[in-house]
Amino acid sequence: AQGERAAAIQAMDWAQLRDSVASCRACGLCDGRQRTVFGVGHEQAHWMIIGEAPGEQEDLQGEPFVGQAGKLLDNMLRALGLTRGGAEAVQQVFIANTLKCRPPRNRNPEPAELAQCLPYLQRQIELVKPRIILALGRFAVQTLLQRSEAIGRLRGQVHDYQGIPVVVSYHPAYLLRNLPDKARAWEDLCLAQAVYRRQLGE
Ligand code: URA
Repeated sequence: AQGERAAAIQAMDWAQLRDSVASCRACGLCDGRQRTVFGVGHEQAHWMIIGEAPGEQEDLQGEPFVGQAGKLLDNMLRALGLTRGGAEAVQQVFIANTLKCRPPRNRNPEPAELAQCLPYLQRQIELVKPRIILALGRFAVQTLLQRSEAIGRLRGQVHDYQGIPVVVSYHPAYLLRNLPDKARAWEDLCLAQAVYRRQLGE
């Protein structure tokens, strides 16, 4: 049944995928959520940013990274000339999480929850076909790359997800508590931009 569900999700278009996430009851997180958080941005974005899971604000608003960590992420993206959309005509970024529902009291995602939610993220990546993925925090990294090392060990290199380059960095919520690592996160963004430019042949 698990394989059948994943196969069904792999065949969905955007509208079907949105509906499926909105009505998902595949794990216990559905009982505590206010809203599902599908993701936001352009459906053909060149950059895909992948975080962990909705927090309180995201759960209330239905949009990823709208709380404090999100403000930091937006600032970091803006420094690269990237925007999640809004009034701007060009939307270069799609932002999603490994989990589409908020874990109670923002506890860590559990392996079973990550496994149930992964087909949604995989399909989102397939549909967007980003030129580069920025994976923020250990859960995004574990989920995409199947690597369990600390971020500090995996950053600074270019990884691969199904032919798409993946750059790894600290989660913005972590950076809010560990300001000295902000400089490292900035290096990671610069690496990502260099990889992106190479992808475009610049
Ligand atoms: N942290 C995340 O990983 N994702 C969000 O959407 C908000 C905070």
